[in-house]
Formats: sequence, C-alpha cells, structure tokens
Amino acid sequence: MCGIMGYIGYRQAQPILLNGLRKLEYRGYDSAGIAVCNGQGITVRKKQGRIEALEQQVASQPLLGTVGIGHTRWATHGKPSDDNSHPHTDQSGAFTVVHNGIIENYLDIRQELIEEGVAFASETDTEVIAHLLAKWYDNDLVAAVKKVAGIIRGAYALAVMCEYEPDKLVVIRYASPLIIGIGAGEKYIGSDIPAILEHTRDVYVLEDGDLAVLTKDSVTLLDVDTSRPVQRELVRIEWDKEQAEKDGFDHYMLKEIHEQPHALRHTMTGRIDEAGGMVVLPELRIRPDELRQVEKIYIVACGTAYHAGLIGKHVFEHLAHIPVEVDVASEFRYRKPLYTPGTLTIVVSQSGETADTLAALREAKRNGSRVLAITNVVGSTIAREADEVMTTNAGPEIAVASTKAYTSQLLAFYLLGIYFAQGKGTIDDQERATLLQALAQLPDQVEAILSHADKLRQFADAIKEEQQLFFIGRGLDHAVCLEGSLKLKEISYIHSEAYAAGELKHGTLALIEEGTRVIALSTQADLHEKMVNNITEVKARGAVVLGIALDDNVELHRSVDDVCLIPGTLPLFTPILSVIPLQLISYYTAAALGNDVDRPRNLAKSVTVE
Ligand code: F6R
Repeated sequence: MCGIMGYIGYRQAQPILLNGLRKLEYRGYDSAGIAVCNGQGITVRKKQGRIEALEQQVASQPLLGTVGIGHTRWATHGKPSDDNSHPHTDQSGAFTVVHNGIIENYLDIRQELIEEGVAFASETDTEVIAHLLAKWYDNDLVAAVKKVAGIIRGAYALAVMCEYEPDKLVVIRYASPLIIGIGAGEKYIGSDIPAILEHTRDVYVLEDGDLAVLTKDSVTLLDVDTSRPVQRELVRIEWDKEQAEKDGFDHYMLKEIHEQPHALRHTMTGRIDEAGGMVVLPELRIRPDELRQVEKIYIVACGTAYHAGLIGKHVFEHLAHIPVEVDVASEFRYRKPLYTPGTLTIVVSQSGETADTLAALREAKRNGSRVLAITNVVGSTIAREADEVMTTNAGPEIAVASTKAYTSQLLAFYLLGIYFAQGKGTIDDQERATLLQALAQLPDQVEAILSHADKLRQFADAIKEEQQLFFIGRGLDHAVCLEGSLKLKEISYIHSEAYAAGELKHGTLALIEEGTRVIALSTQADLHEKMVNNITEVKARGAVVLGIALDDNVELHRSVDDVCLIPGTLPLFTPILSVIPLQLISYYTAAALGNDVDRPRNLAKSVTVE
C-alpha cells in the first residue's frame, strides 16, 4: 500500500502535492517523492524517511511547474532508500511514474530490459514501467501506457507524466484504488479522498481497467483493453476531514477490518504461479536441499503475532510434517531452547520492531539457527537482521489492535507451509491444487462475512455490560479463541478467557453461572461432537452461548442460543474466516462503550521495550 497524488492546473504543483501526500501518509511513510513538469523538462526529488525530510529537501529550491505527481511509499520491493523511492524515471528522464501495488512479472521484464542494455537505478518493481514507456513511446503517451498495461501483470494504480506531452497526466487503475478530483481549470489524482478534499468534493472513482487522461480542463475515461470511452458517475463527497482520513469509517480499526479482503489479495499477489499451480516465494534464499533439511521449527512472537504462530504450528505439522514449538518471545529468550543444525526459527512481527521478538531473533542467530521473519514492514530492524524475510504486504496498520496484520500473517503461514510441503514432497499435486483453490477463495469469503456485520453489532450491544466472557474451542478454534479474547480485552476492557473447550471441566467450569456469556467456535468437523458436549456442559450451568460454525453445520443451532455462520473452507483455513466475527464483536463492543478504540488505554502500537 502506497499513496499517489497528482495535480494538473494553473497553480504551482509542489505545495499541492506535498499537502496531499501528508494526508496519505497513513498509507505508507518510509519514503516520499515528487516530480514536477514545467515545459522545459521534469524534475524529480525523492527522499527516504517521512514527508518532512522531502519537504526540507525542496524548501530551499522549490520545483516550479503546474503539473506534477507525488508518492508516499510503503516498501514492498526493495528496502526504503532514496533510490527506491518514487517517482521512477526512464534513463532519459522524460518518462516519470508513480505506482501503488505490485507488478508480479517485473523480474522477467527487468531481465529482458537489462539484456537490451537498460541500466536500472533502483530495486523496485515499478521502475520497469518507466523503461517500458520509453521503449514503446511513439509520439502518443496514451498508446504507450496502453501497451505497457498489456505487458505488466499484477495489482496497480499508476500515474504517468511525460516531458514530450507536458499538458497531460495519464493514470490507470487495476486492483489498487485511484480517484480523480474535479476543479475549475485544475484536476487532481489521489489514492484516497483525504488527499484532495481541501480542493474539491467532486470525484470520479476509477474502476479496474479504467484509463484516464487528464488535462487542466478535461478528464477522458477509457477502457484500457477496448479503448472505448467509459462513463463513471461524478460523486459528491460529503465527509468531514476526519471521516475522510478513515475512509468514512468511524475508526481506523473498523477500516482495517474491512481492508482485510484487499490485504489478503495483496499478500497472495505474485506468490502463486498459476501456470504450474505452485507457491513461489522468490524472496526466500533458502535452497530446496536446505529446506528439506529443516527438522524442527521454533515460531517466536508476541501478542497477536504469537496467536498467528499457533496456527502456523498446525500448518507446518499438517502440511510439511515438521514438528513446531511456538513461544512467546519474552519467554523464549530465557528458556534455553535446544537448537540442532536442522532448526529453523520463524519470528513473526507486524511492526518488525518489537523488542522481545528482536531479542529472540538475535538469540536464535547466536545459537546458529537460520531465522526467517514474517513482517509487515520492509526495512524494519527484524527484516534487516533476519536471514530470510517474507513480507505480509497488508499495508500500514494504524489501530493499536491488530486485525489485518493477523489475517495476513495467517495467509503467510499457509503459503509458507505449502511451499515447504511442495519442496519436501509431503503433499501431492491434487492436494496442492485443492489447497490453492481454497486459498484463492478466502478474500471473497471474508468479504461475505463483513457484509453481515450488523448481526454482530447486535450481539456486541447485548454483551457490553458484562463483567466477563468466555471463548471456547478445540484445536485451531482454540488458537482463534485466544486472539478473539485478546482483542476483546484490549479495546473493550471486558475480562475474558479463551479456554480449550475440553479443559474447562478441570477447574474453570466453576466460573460459569446463570447468564455467563460464552462464545463457542466449532469449525472443525472432526471435533464437532466433542464441542457439542462441551457446549452442553456450560449450558447446563446457565451459560448463554453464541456458536460460530461453518454454514454447512445444520445441527449447532440446537445446542446454542444463537449462531453466526461463516462460509465453508478447508479445516486448516477456517481461522482466517472465524476470527472476523470475533474482531467485529470486539470492535462494536468497544465502540458501544465509547472507548478510544484506536488507542486503547495503557497500550502502544510498537512495543520497543522489553
Ligand atoms: C494486539 C496487538 C499486539 C501485537 C504485539 C506484537 O492487537 O497488536 O499484541 O501483536 O505487540 O507486535 P508486532 O507484531 O508488531 O511484533
């Protein structure tokens, strides 16, 4: 996730671009850049770091011109650096591009261009676009952009500016958001509404495959494949400024919950080779023979990331037949774990800066273990120090309570598990195909659950005055219960316990009394009967139970007071779906209580102390 801003009109572009980028900083903030065209050429300034660093750079020598594009970056390909910052240009500097998304086939294109003599200035996937535009330009920028769109594959929003056609901007959207703002004698481009709201409230929201040509007086919309004109409704935005930054949601947490289908698609992008039906992880350096030698895995993390690790254990053991131990990072460092030459340590961290996880990584490396990091932040300390890095590409997470980072971590584990399993030969072609097919459906299934959020809001209203609540489940469901319970505690401040359902009767059942609220997860067909027994045990003591199960479970409603059904998937993949109702319940409960949902008391987003 990155932010794109563009302007064409009669005013100086630089201050408008910088203002817009500041509003988009929530989409990424590891580097920023602008390019301005003034009829005598294009000038680019870009800088690693926050937008203030770029502002300082251009303060003494402003870029003059009334056409420009800008970008705030959230690194996916190539670490945060001045060179990797956008905009990117071709070798002559005549073609300039900013990009949000991922170009899946950039490595092949890059190789071809290098063989043709092109020298690259960055490690990014985006730079190939600038070189391709230069290669295919024949006095018609729109034709060149269309040609390039036919070559690149992936998810992208692009804005292109060309020195030879200084009175236009060309943009294109495929699976990454882009809007166009309309003013009198000026037009704007933004990844999101906040970027342009101070200038105009009239916008076109581009759809996949839309190409737009902007001059200061006009916007022409075309279908990139057919070149036929397309009509989009001019939308009047009535949001206030704060609502706009949250995309119309009341809180960042709710926005991030709703971003999960998109985040999951992003995590998957470029990692499934559709031709061969294989998982491909080009970012990993581990060779197939080394992969086959892995005989034990430690997964180490904190909080929500630790809960993702608990699912990761099931994934590796089930698919790749590798035994896994999962540890809380603050405990792992001090328990003197036993390393063997075949031990792999996987650390999981959204921020990539968590002190305990970092210390565990260093401890593992000191003991000779190879360390693989799953993180959301390219260039973070954990990403830099690990031997291998798999990024989750969920985009910046602003709310303290982690949601989209968690589901992206789960997806990263599924991809890694399948990757190890195919490398070790522990799954056959048929099983792999079944897994990949189910994986591809998950984003749409999450979307389907989100569209029924209202029922969970009603449930939240009913529990908001409770003093305590129980989550029960078995196996994978128990791991999801731990996450649901943490979420509820941290933002609603209601005490809850997540219990392995079969373990209740060994003591905790004593706390169940008339009216105690219990959320029971039962998504695993082979454990369902046992779960029904455990539900019966709590109901017999007066508990009021909400059951969460797959939509083919026709029996559960007989054992519980209310049910929330989620779409069917493979047993291993249910956590990505079953956690969504739990996230929504926590959110709506905290919101109904009037709590500061995005910044809960006593907590911080990045915990850099031990
Ligand atoms: C809970 C939450 C925390 C983090 C934990 C680790 O919603 O966000 O429990 O998961 O502090 O943080 P990272 O993943 O950044 O290492």
